[in-house]
Amino acid sequence: MAKYTRASSRGDRYNRRLLFMSAGCGMRDRLLAAEKVKAIDWRDGALYLLDQRILPFEETWIAYTSAAGVAEAIRSMVVRGAPAIGISTAYGVVLAARARFAEGGDWQAALEEDFALLADSRPTAVNLFWALGRMRDRLERLKDHADPMAVLEAEAIAIHESDREANLTMAQLGVDLIRKHQGNAQAILTHCNTGALATGGFGTALGVIRGAFIEGMVERVYANETRPWLQGSRLTAWELSNEGIPVTLNADSAAAHIMKTKGITWVIVGADRITANGDVANKIGTYQLAVNAMHHGVRFMVVAPSSTIDMNLASGDDIPIEERDGRELLEVGGKRVGADVDAFNPVFDVTPADLIDAIITEKGIVERPDTAKMAQLMCRKRLH
Ligand code: MRU
Repeated sequence: MAKYTRASSRGDRYNRRLLFMSAGCGMRDRLLAAEKVKAIDWRDGALYLLDQRILPFEETWIAYTSAAGVAEAIRSMVVRGAPAIGISTAYGVVLAARARFAEGGDWQAALEEDFALLADSRPTAVNLFWALGRMRDRLERLKDHADPMAVLEAEAIAIHESDREANLTMAQLGVDLIRKHQGNAQAILTHCNTGALATGGFGTALGVIRGAFIEGMVERVYANETRPWLQGSRLTAWELSNEGIPVTLNADSAAAHIMKTKGITWVIVGADRITANGDVANKIGTYQLAVNAMHHGVRFMVVAPSSTIDMNLASGDDIPIEERDGRELLEVGGKRVGADVDAFNPVFDVTPADLIDAIITEKGIVERPDTAKMAQLMCRKRLH
């Protein structure tokens, strides 16, 4: 595992909105031009991950050449965010297959150990298991004459590329939905990090927010700090401020007050797993945002690629919820701040479908989700 570090700058600050408005090109081109940050790079047969544990202070890339390394990167959250976890997993399978193939013998049987290792890294984001399923399926369809390494590498790259494409489609659909309901000058509240750092493109919920900003429809984004791992204050605030998108950071517990006093029109979040009835698992705190949004008449949008939808689970009650070390709550920057007690640290919760106004995917939009509408959605082709 090799590391490459450079001191973090705040990035190029510029008025992206003016830039795009003057460019006179289509929304897709304007969105593509907004892709600045990336967190995953597949280069020269190695997986490079931007270490999200130390952002925004340092931009350090770590090179991985084994499935065990990738599994540990996912577990320790060097890489995080459901789609980014799925993409990294696919590359992890490529690395594993290369090593097993070189060992000779029944390499496909030996690969099962690596599948199990990767599957064990984090439990909630279904994209991880979806990516393993895609890679396994590709493996099973290998023709005798094919070069297995080239085929698996192409599959992982296709997973990465299609997530990027999905981000673009979802941004366009989300912006259209916002436009349908209200005009300009939106104040938006978001939770966790759902941007370029969490995906293969420029984001799910943050992609819609970026798109809406480009279209001149966002006045300010309120970013929940997202305790305890601080995805909001460390990652989302960093991504948005680097692009000149007006962002204000707030404590998670300020969200209801902000909905009441700051003219919030939409809460826009991502997802880690969406079940067949439209229930949504996402970062802990999302459920209480949805309850508060309902109370304040604020619309609630979930943005996620179809790889986040798990039609095998009937409802959110069946989703495994990851619990992480209590020290994430009891310590700040490695220093103990909490009393000498046990801490309960579930890092996801489930928002029931009936609190959700719309789920945006690359296959289309589901408004007021339920089982029938989710089934219809999954029968559709991707829109790109
Ligand atoms: O624990 P994390 O940082 O992996 O959790 C991430 C989230 O909950 C995101 O909201 C979700 O994965 C959507 S990312 C596009």
